Amino acid sequence: MTQQEPISMDIIPTQEGYDRWAEFYDGDDNPLVLLEERYLSALAGNVSGLDVADIGCGTGRHAIRWAAAGARVTAVDFSESMLARARAKPEAGRINFICHDLARPFPLKSASFDRVFCCLVLDHIKDLAGFFGELRRICRPCGEVVISVMHPAMSLRGVQARFIDPASGRRVCLASHVHQVSDYLMAALSAGLKLQNVSEHAVDSALAASSVRAQKYLDWPMLLLTKLSRT
Ligand SMILES: C[S@@+](CC[C@H](N)C(=O)[O-])C[C@H]1O[C@@H](n2cnc3c(N)ncnc32)[C@H](O)[C@@H]1O
Repeated sequence: MTQQEPISMDIIPTQEGYDRWAEFYDGDDNPLVLLEERYLSALAGNVSGLDVADIGCGTGRHAIRWAAAGARVTAVDFSESMLARARAKPEAGRINFICHDLARPFPLKSASFDRVFCCLVLDHIKDLAGFFGELRRICRPCGEVVISVMHPAMSLRGVQARFIDPASGRRVCLASHVHQVSDYLMAALSAGLKLQNVSEHAVDSALAASSVRAQKYLDWPMLLLTKLSRT
């Protein structure tokens, strides 16, 4: 039996990583994104006419969708390259994009959004307490905060946000923080948010059939979703 060569690996700062990943992020076989797509619209509900924040918007995967659905969208990210991809998409002209490091207080007014989305970002955030405090601050009293994040169980398989650099063939890992499910939930509750829904999603055979990268994680938890309300 031939042994497979281990892939060499680089770990780089998060912002630099997304600046490099941006070029092919949307076309990557990313099972986490495929799994999340199944559930997020139902969690979001009808956003037409609402003020929506997309915190860590990346290439605008969700922001564009909410704008097309009639929401007034503000989308924040610190990767200029990810933002450039988002700005080039149809409907992007209706979105207020802001380049900002979310480790600092958000440049957004308090109580100004009906829905606050933060999708596949939290594993890059060190200070969860401060971050959830900001998510709550910008949310209107009757608003909702919707979170998706890579399930912490993936770290037990050595997985963190990463891509294969097409030029070198090397695996590039983006600086991340290992948080547990309880860390996320306690940070949200301690910030004064109320838990409306929490769900954990494993790789199933349908996902494994549509994503080569999902196959070795069959039945393993890959995605954590939460919906929170301010009051
Ligand atoms: C995995 S991507 C997800 C993008 C988008 N939310 C989605 O679901 O397709 C993570 C995004 O979070 C952004 N991000 C991570 N840490 C950040 C920070 N401290 N400030 C601003 N953006 C950050 C990255 O630049 C990247 O675009």
